[in-house]
Amino acid sequence: MLEIAENGRTWILSGPTSSYALHLGAEGELLHLHWGARISLADAEALAARPEPKYWPFESQLDGREEYPVEGGPRFTRPALSVRTDERRGTEWTFERYDTEGDELRLRFRDGGLAITLHHRMRHDVVERWVTLDNDGPEPVEVLRADSATWTLPDREDAWRLSQLHGRWAAESRLTQAPLTYGEKVIGSRRGHTGHQHLPWVALDTDATEERGEVYGCALGWSGSWRIAVAQLPDARVQITGGAGYDDSGLLSLAAGESFATPVFAGLWSDGGFGGASRAWHAYQRAYVIPDADQDRPVLFNSWEATNFDISEEQQGTLARRAAAIGVELFVVDDGWFGTRTSDRAGLGDWAPNPDRFPSGLKPLADYVCALGMQFGIWVEPEMVNPDSELYRAHPDWVQYQAGRKRTEFRNQLVLNLAREDVREYLWEQLDTLLSSAPIDYVKWDFNRCFTDAGWPGEPYPQRLWVDHVRGFYALLDRLRAAHPGVAFESCSGGGGRIDLGVMSRTDQVWTSDNTDPLDRLAIQHGFSQIHPARVMAAWVTDSPNTQLNGRVSSLRFRFVSAMAGVLGVGGDLAEWTEEELAEAHEWVELYKRIRPLVQRGDLYRLRAPRGGLSAVQYVLGDETVVLAWLQAQQYGESAPALRLRGLDPTASYECLETGEVHRGAVLLHHGLRVDVRGDLDAAVLRLRRI
Ligand code: GLA
Repeated sequence: MLEIAENGRTWILSGPTSSYALHLGAEGELLHLHWGARISLADAEALAARPEPKYWPFESQLDGREEYPVEGGPRFTRPALSVRTDERRGTEWTFERYDTEGDELRLRFRDGGLAITLHHRMRHDVVERWVTLDNDGPEPVEVLRADSATWTLPDREDAWRLSQLHGRWAAESRLTQAPLTYGEKVIGSRRGHTGHQHLPWVALDTDATEERGEVYGCALGWSGSWRIAVAQLPDARVQITGGAGYDDSGLLSLAAGESFATPVFAGLWSDGGFGGASRAWHAYQRAYVIPDADQDRPVLFNSWEATNFDISEEQQGTLARRAAAIGVELFVVDDGWFGTRTSDRAGLGDWAPNPDRFPSGLKPLADYVCALGMQFGIWVEPEMVNPDSELYRAHPDWVQYQAGRKRTEFRNQLVLNLAREDVREYLWEQLDTLLSSAPIDYVKWDFNRCFTDAGWPGEPYPQRLWVDHVRGFYALLDRLRAAHPGVAFESCSGGGGRIDLGVMSRTDQVWTSDNTDPLDRLAIQHGFSQIHPARVMAAWVTDSPNTQLNGRVSSLRFRFVSAMAGVLGVGGDLAEWTEEELAEAHEWVELYKRIRPLVQRGDLYRLRAPRGGLSAVQYVLGDETVVLAWLQAQQYGESAPALRLRGLDPTASYECLETGEVHRGAVLLHHGLRVDVRGDLDAAVLRLRRI
């Protein structure tokens, strides 16, 4: 809901539990008023009328109070907007007008030929913010930096704490928390993709717990380089500014008549602790971001860990039969099916099936998979090329490179320049042909290296390539989705290197991590769930001992229950699994299908974080709830502590479908549910239904 004061100078957006208000001051400065618990328009107007605090010389009247601090004038904070023309740098803007479209508020400012529009929209309790720049003047404007939003936190008695999700390859999205101190904390990616190192999310709180207290969260929807800076200013006020691009040194140049829209930087306030904030983020993404989120994702099999590059039609057929027998619904052939791709040294760029491996193309295998009752999927990595490929031999200038300099290879591959229209057109033709060549239902879209030599010889500085690669990637995905509406896409980047709200709005799920060790996964999934829902979090059961990383031995039970917390997949070498293992796997897959609506569409409660002993999550949907619990290591013969459940009706009774026991809601909420787990790496699933 959007309300506007009669004088047209105070605006308030409200969601079910929160409000967000801003005000145009007497000097035409746009001030942030309120972000937090729900208040009325009259409250916001009263807030706007309060006298300003006293400022001492050497401090700015504007710092820490402005909705979107531009560069220039009496400001010393990090600017959200930094532009220059041949003559001057910075912005002196005047308010022109506001308008609305539906519940979107647009505040329009101008500095000479540059029109700057701030967009605000409330969806559930999430405020979506972005900025558009229109160069109406005759001169080009160089945009050094254009953040999507600056968020201002209220003054609080206690010190702020910053939560972030950090990582690296095979160790993504791990939650870390530390007190915020004066100065700035900057996270981001200068790698051309979102990166494994940080999910573009931060949360700030003073005293929140998992289920209580105020939490402010911000998440960026951009799949290229990005930056979020959290600053504690001299008066202790906290602001968070973020957007596309890492540096301040040149995002793009806007020629006369050109426009630029930043990605969305979304903000959420919750007073339900970290759990409440996560549930609100999940509900928002399921309602507004993730395509077709009301459709549950199928259980998939992926061939990567089973067969690596050594694949054949017959061997994939064998895996498919076994996958179908354990209840898999989608069979995905990973890397190695195309061009001369028999290792990571060749073939990327040539998206036709390898004639030695698939003499009649992919259709016979796809038909076979279909006849087994499964959907069929494949792996691609369209933005990349191996120098040893037909494509590179024909078009060596289609990659990102700097004239006269070395072309750095990672995993023997170079990055195609998707800012080029001919490159995008080539990829469109290749992928459209591929998707038309066989009944393909699913595409795992990978991206396996960072930008290093991001140049485009002949193009003037600043080069649009950093921004236009991402736009090109989005445009290609959008076009393919429109032309092949039945095909689902997974975002992968060596695991979780491209996970953000931008890619999430045009893919159906994401590959969380190349780390499929079921114990490591608990921490990765714990972090991931802070912002994204289980509905997009792909998780595979692979072999034991773990072949990819650590040789850890774990039971099928532990591996399945770990992976059942997300979109379940199987990635082990089924050809090597015994009949007993296959039969047990079948039971787990069937159990997953029964709890799938709760996992993929229910509310998530993190009952205990993975910190060594017992950890558990609970999903609630309607009258049903399910608890997934994992015991890392039992010590001193102690029984696992009872798990206090959440989201239940204290006056109702619940029957446990596993044990047949009937529990009173109030007892489960206040005294907890006992789980029978012991030893090392044990796990349990307990389903409860209201009676
Ligand atoms: C990346 C992915 C893996 C697999 C390989 C194939 O590393 O994250 O899941 O698809 O590429 O080369």
